[in-house]
Amino acid sequence: MQRRDFFRGATAMAFATSIPQLTLSSTASSMTPNISSRPLRRMAFGSCNRQSRNQFHWRYIASSQPDLWYWLGDNIYAEYASPNERADQYQKILNHPDYQRLGKLARISGVWDDHDYGGNNVGIDYEEKGGSQQVFWDFLGKDPFDPIREQEGIFRLESWGPEGQKIDIVSLDVRYFKERPGQGGLLGELQWQWLEETLFASTADFIIIGTGIHLTSRITGLGLEGWNQYPEERRRLYEILAQLDQDILVLTGDRHMAEIIRRPLPGGKALYEIMSSGLTHSVGVRLPEIYRVGDIVGEKNFGLLEFDWDSGSRPKVIASIQSAESVDSLSRHVLDYTSEF
Ligand SMILES: [Fe+2]
Repeated sequence: MQRRDFFRGATAMAFATSIPQLTLSSTASSMTPNISSRPLRRMAFGSCNRQSRNQFHWRYIASSQPDLWYWLGDNIYAEYASPNERADQYQKILNHPDYQRLGKLARISGVWDDHDYGGNNVGIDYEEKGGSQQVFWDFLGKDPFDPIREQEGIFRLESWGPEGQKIDIVSLDVRYFKERPGQGGLLGELQWQWLEETLFASTADFIIIGTGIHLTSRITGLGLEGWNQYPEERRRLYEILAQLDQDILVLTGDRHMAEIIRRPLPGGKALYEIMSSGLTHSVGVRLPEIYRVGDIVGEKNFGLLEFDWDSGSRPKVIASIQSAESVDSLSRHVLDYTSEF
C-alpha cells in the first residue's frame, strides 16, 4: 500500500487551519525532524515531563551534546485540554532557554503518549485527537504545510546517515487507533500495514523503534498500560522483528523508571528495549522482569545512546541512563546482539 493512501487531506487540514500555530523560536527550522545525511552518533531520549515542574533537565540533556532529542510520550500533561490549551502548555517548554539551546544543537523528534495526546489511557475515541495531533506537530516544529499533517496518526519513518551507517527510526502511534484492551487493537490495521512494509523494506544498518508504552513487560494490572494488553499484536511484532537482518532497539517511556531489557525473539535473536521515564517525576517500582539487564533506575532520568561506526559493519551501541538532575550516569550498558540466551 502506498503512503499516500493513508492521507486524508480534507479532515486534517481543516484542523490545521482552525488551530493557531504555536509561536516557534528562531531555532524552529533546526528543530524540524527530517532525514539527515550525516550519521547519528549521539541520541538522547526521555518521557514523562510535567511542564509545571522545574525543567532543569534540559541543561543536562543539552550538555550531553546529542545529535537528536527524541520524546517518548507524556511530553506534557494536559488532561482533556482543548488544542489551544494544549498548545499553551507546549509553549512553556518551547519558551525554556535550555530547551531552545538543545534545539540549536540537536534535531527534535519523537512520539506522544496518553497525557499529551488526550488524557489518562485514552485512545481512538478521544474527540480532539485531530487537533491534538496538529499541535503536536507544531511542538516538533513541523512546517504548516508538511504532508505528514494530513496523515491520521503520528507514525512515520525518519532515517539518519549514508548507506553503511544508516539508522532507521520508526515512530509508532499507540494512541490514535488504540481500542480498549480485550475489545480491539492497538496500532490499527493501516498502521500495521505501513509498519510491515517499512520494516521489510528497510536498508538500514540499525533500527530503532519508538513507542510510548512498554513493549516487553509481562506485568498486567496495577493500572499499567503495555503491549502485553494486546498479546496477538505483540507476537505479530516479535515475529516481524525476528525476520529482519538488522539489530533492533525499542525505546519506550511511561512507567516512571528506567530499565534496559534484553530478551530473545522467536528463533533466538536478541531484542533490546530501553525505557526512560520520567524527566520530572519517577517512582522506581521494582516490577519483576527476568530479562532486565542490571537494576532499574528510580531517579529522574533521560537515556543516551552513543553509536560507534568505526567498529565494523554494525554499530557498537553504548546505552546509558543519565540523571535528569546532574551530569551523573546512573547505568551503562554496551548492547550485545551476539551472545546466546
Ligand atoms: Fe503514559
